[in-house]
Amino acid sequence: MSSKQFDVIVIGGGPGGYIAAIRAAQLGFTVACIDEWKNAVGGPAPGGTCTNVGCIPSKALLQSSEHFDHARQHFAEHGISTGEVTIDVARMLGRKDNVVKQNNEGILYLFKKNKVAFFHGRGSFAAAKDGGYEIQVGEELLAAKHVILATGSVARELPGAAFDEDMILSNDGALRIGAVPKTLGVIGSGVIGLEMGSVWRRLGAEVTVLEGLPTFLGAVDESVAKEALKLFKKQGLKIELGVKIGGVKSGKNGVSVAYTDAKGEAQTLSVDKLIISIGRVANTSGLNGAAVGLKLDERGAIEVDADCKTNLPNVWAVGDVVRGPMLAHKAEEEGVAVAERIAGQHGHVNFNTIPWVIYTSPEIAWVGRTEQQLKADGVAYKAGQFPFLANGRARALGDTSGFVKFLADAKTDEILGVHIIGPSASELIAEAVVAMEFKASAEDIARICHAHPSLSEATKEAALAVDKRTLNF
Ligand code: FAD
Ligand code: NAI
Repeated sequence: MSSKQFDVIVIGGGPGGYIAAIRAAQLGFTVACIDEWKNAVGGPAPGGTCTNVGCIPSKALLQSSEHFDHARQHFAEHGISTGEVTIDVARMLGRKDNVVKQNNEGILYLFKKNKVAFFHGRGSFAAAKDGGYEIQVGEELLAAKHVILATGSVARELPGAAFDEDMILSNDGALRIGAVPKTLGVIGSGVIGLEMGSVWRRLGAEVTVLEGLPTFLGAVDESVAKEALKLFKKQGLKIELGVKIGGVKSGKNGVSVAYTDAKGEAQTLSVDKLIISIGRVANTSGLNGAAVGLKLDERGAIEVDADCKTNLPNVWAVGDVVRGPMLAHKAEEEGVAVAERIAGQHGHVNFNTIPWVIYTSPEIAWVGRTEQQLKADGVAYKAGQFPFLANGRARALGDTSGFVKFLADAKTDEILGVHIIGPSASELIAEAVVAMEFKASAEDIARICHAHPSLSEATKEAALAVDKRTLNF
């Protein structure tokens, strides 16, 4: 069989893969991108986990449920009366599906615009040949010198509790529950557990989150995690820390989870539906990597060096399928950097300035090191904090929970970390990322004019707080 020849083949069309394909095409390479995700009618649905069952649909549902919550809890204080507010779950899910579809179609359009050849199907290594690789997709054989692997991740299963996406749900099923369950259990109080738990709680479910670790959001700055726990509990989310899950049983009428609580006492949680969100694992199952000797690490991720090179010449890997945070923007940055390295340029990803966002209400966002990390690293630092309660825009919005916190080097004043819990934290964090990329000091931010009234003034004030000279608090 003769093969179709390309300069670069990308396997996986999520944020890591499709962005790598576009950047490689921009750099003048002939590029193929292979992705196997199918939409409801079996057609192509590029965009990976992020577009189909991750970032995009979860944010669509977070938006819908927040509107619902606002209409029920906050409209009256603005003088708006609505009568009884109800939720049409089918319509909400339909809107979410439409948002996903628009993103799928957008990526197919971008492939056309950038002359990336798209192949819908599973891509797997057939052979290493003539200094390059042959990749099988269905009946077709493609060949290229360079291969970029971006096959992403899948939800980790809890032993003995396989996902059926009806009663025991991964992120996939959690995004398409057909009616608001009366009770919802969540195992794992990580990012998915909190975001999806928030969606269904706002819509009226009684949500209980069971977390194995004794600390809440261990990777988050301790003061932010403490504030978040307080606020989430006040909203009605039940969170139990330090539990040990025993067995999970599901029947027609619900799911029961046997567990030991933090005091060591045996407990049972009975719920209508159960989301299991205990992390994700690299997805290499369809690659046939063994055919060419592709090396995996001890956790099953593709082993790569700092430049995303695998053990095979001219085979690269990016995104969730390799080490590092499982974030769409990290995958994209690696995809761009790899395409540029293939072109002989100096692609670069700064792992120290990758922002994190948890899209709960209030949002949580941070960049750089936490206070507990600085302590552990023995770094002398100064901290400055400013509450949204003292910010005029936040008061006008009616959303005054949380704060902005700066951590700066005690001697040089260089910003080492910025932590935000509060309204629009996902947008506010961008200023901190820019500042840290430019190695700014807290004083630099404090001296910059910020528009009034804006939430960003809280960022300026937190920077001023590092020098103990806030103006509005
Ligand atoms: P993926 O997006 O997983 O894409 C991999 C693609 O490769 C898939 O389409 C898959 O079908 C395809 N594939 C796999 N094997 C093959 C093969 N052999 N042949 C052909 N195709 C193949 N991150 C954020 O930054 N912000 C968020 O708000 C956010 N929210 C999330 C919410 C949820 C519920 C979940 C589950 C994740 C969320 N994430 C978020 C994480 C984000 O989705 C991932 O980090 C991101 O999708 C990783 O991109 P990727 O390109 O590495 O892999
Ligand atoms: P996670 O790693 O964020 O959280 C998993 C949680 O489950 C942890 O708190 C862990 O201690 C707990 N856990 C693990 N095993 C357990 C067990 N047996 N019993 C009880 N608790 C247990 O993983 P999650 O929420 O599944 O999300 C996966 C990844 O997806 C995230 O790490 C993140 O990278 C990405 N994501 C990003 C989002 C964003 O950027 N806003 C949103 C959603 C997901």
